[in-house]
Parts: sequence; structure tokens; C-alpha cells
Amino acid sequence: MQHPKRSTLLAISVLAGFALAPLAFSHYDDKEPAQSYRQSWFALMAANFGPMTMMVKGDIPWQENEMAAYADQLAALVTLDVMRGFADGTDKGTTRAKPEIWENKPDFTAKMDDLTKAVNALQTVANQGTDRKAIAEGVAATGQACKACHDEYKSKDYLY
Ligand code: HEC
Repeated sequence: MQHPKRSTLLAISVLAGFALAPLAFSHYDDKEPAQSYRQSWFALMAANFGPMTMMVKGDIPWQENEMAAYADQLAALVTLDVMRGFADGTDKGTTRAKPEIWENKPDFTAKMDDLTKAVNALQTVANQGTDRKAIAEGVAATGQACKACHDEYKSKDYLY
């Protein structure tokens, strides 16, 4: 059995803290369907990604089959068109999505594509099963894709 490098573990614990930080997820609001749609999608992403980071950190037992199942769920989620939730005119309301998203749509979309690539790579390696170092690196890379976008486009607090 291989063990992830200490530096990888440290990087992941930082990311896991971030991934699990928003404890209160939004509920569906009929008046803001696009905002609710995207927030629900992110909540599902976090609900699957969170346990993966916890397994890598050792907070919960690492189970190969569960790791692969979570990766499959993430891969299924990235096939959904989340950009539908960022349509023009959906920048206001109950949201932490910064206005820069609508000013830099191509860059935002590219960051979403980076996430898709990272998740697909993670699904492949998680389904191969036993190389924990490679899986831990895939989890870290996915966390980096979340963070790269949040750093630029997600506010800490609700904006309006
Ligand atoms: C391309 C940009 C981007 C990527 C990549 C991204 N996020 Fe986000 N995320 C956002 C934005 C923008 C919001 C704020 C949405 C809003 O409030 O309308 C958000 C909100 C969230 C929320 C709060 C949802 C809620 O209930 O309001 C969670 C949790 C979250 N993201 C987790 C993740 C995780 C985990 C990943 C990676 C697996 C990820 N995000 C990847 C941009 C991104």
C-alpha cells in the first residue's frame, strides 16, 4: 500500500477545510430558479467531494469502493449544464456569485472546464482502485480547481 506524501496531505487538509466550510446549504427558491439551481449543484458537488477529502485526511476510513463511488457521482454531476445557472441577468438575488463572472464569462467557463477535467481524471484513477497516492493527488487537483474559481469568483458572504 502506498501512502500519500506529507505535503500532499497538508495541501488536502487545507482544501478540505474550505470544501466543508459552508455548512448551511441553500434551499430551492422559486423566485430565483437559476441561483437555486447553481447553488444546489455546488451543494451536491461538496456533499460528494467532502467525504473524499476526509478519507484522504484519515478523518474517516479510506474505502476504495466508496472513493470510486463518490468519484463517479462527481463525474455524473459535471455532465450537467451548470452554466445554465449562470445565465445573463441572474447575477443578483441571494447569491455569493461575484459580478465579475458575467464580465469574464470565458474565463469563468474555462475554470469550470478545468474542474470537469480534474473530476474525470479523478474518476479514472479512483476506479483503478489501489494507488492511494495517485488518488490523493487527484483529490488535491480537484480541490485546486474548486479553489481557483472560488478565489476569484465566489464571495465569502452573500452580496445583495
Ligand atoms: C468555475 C467556478 C467554480 C468552480 C470550479 C467551483 N465553484 Fe463552488 N461556487 C462558485 C460560485 C460562483 C459559487 C456561488 C454561487 C451562488 O451563491 O450563487 C459557488 C458556491 C459553492 C458552494 C455554496 C453553495 C450554496 O449552498 O450556496 C459550495 C459548497 C461550493 N461552491 C463547493 C464547490 C466545490 C466542492 C467545488 C469543486 C469540487 C466547487 N465549488 C467548484 C464557483 C465555482
